[in-house]
Amino acid sequence: MRIAVIGGDGTGPEVVAEGLKVLKAVAKKMGFTYETTAFDLSGDRYLAAGGDPTKPSIPVISDAEIAELRKYDAMYLGAVGHPKIAPGILEKGLLLRLRFELDQYINLRPVKLYPGVDTPLKDKGPADVDFIVVRENTEGIYTGMGGIQYKGTPAEVSTQINCTTRFGAERAIRYAFELTRRRNSKKKQLTLVHKTNVLTFAGDTWWRAFNEIGAAEYPDIKRDYNHVDACCMWFVKNPEFYDVIVTDNIFGDIITDLAAVIQGGLGVAAGGNINPKGVSMYEPMGGSAPKYTGLNVINPMAAIGAMGMLLRETGTNKGDKKLVDAGNRIEAAIIATTPRMKSQAAGKMGYSTTGVGDLVVEALNAAP
Ligand code: IPM
Ligand code: MN
Repeated sequence: MRIAVIGGDGTGPEVVAEGLKVLKAVAKKMGFTYETTAFDLSGDRYLAAGGDPTKPSIPVISDAEIAELRKYDAMYLGAVGHPKIAPGILEKGLLLRLRFELDQYINLRPVKLYPGVDTPLKDKGPADVDFIVVRENTEGIYTGMGGIQYKGTPAEVSTQINCTTRFGAERAIRYAFELTRRRNSKKKQLTLVHKTNVLTFAGDTWWRAFNEIGAAEYPDIKRDYNHVDACCMWFVKNPEFYDVIVTDNIFGDIITDLAAVIQGGLGVAAGGNINPKGVSMYEPMGGSAPKYTGLNVINPMAAIGAMGMLLRETGTNKGDKKLVDAGNRIEAAIIATTPRMKSQAAGKMGYSTTGVGDLVVEALNAAP
């Protein structure tokens, strides 16, 4: 297995180092080999190459680098985000560009409260918070379609088009049904989240695709629907209701931040940008956290979780049981480690960044 590693900005390289430490341990334990290659892609590099911090001026990633990345089995990303660079430049220039060009059409976000991790939800525990969000990752309002006319005048008009295709909705929906079927949960329930009462065009495409595919191909899966606003309410009130959720790009972006908080925060939340037949990219959900950079205090758990996902999903998509097992072992080691930590917040864990990585390796090695 060949993994492209992008440490990125701020604390990204520190948390990635812990994920790689855990990868090394699990590979040794299970007897598989892998290769990693570091890619220098970051806000710092953009600035060093003469990039304008106020507006996009030079590519954040080159065409040649994207072509190179296509040759890998998976990508492992720390964080991108730089305090000196205007919002949008790195997001569009790197993260969104990779999602689009590598057609990573699924954003997969497991929402699981691990033992010993604090949730802000009153009277809820690990048995109540265990679901997974499948976010469509290449369409909706993220395509950049639209524009501004008469800018700077009282007549200014801007449009941002919610580009929804039957093809895009269908492939996200099918992925989500398949996941619901293979997921180890008794509920076997897929919830579509949208806003069909207001987005009567895009919502209609999603609604029909969801019900037609569900009825024809997945009669064993219970279909459920929430408006996105109601979904936010249920996340807080009754998270135990959910099994798998499928939703459009922007709704998925928003609800997964809320979901991250109920699973214990950005210190633990991991995600994947997935092309099931291509190159997928796994990352901790937290940002580059510039103020903690270099202090050995940031929580690497999310990055370690992202490594677990990388192995499990790569194994699932390539039909490699050993990789799936390796991913599951990492998750088991995380579950054995979280109760030993004081908190999942940076600087308050009771251990350093490298100390937490060591604990996970210890748990991995102790497992049968
Ligand atoms: C995420 C992030 C990105 C998004 C940003 C950084 C462009 O918030 O991965 O959820 O909106 O998708
Ligand atoms: Mn987001």
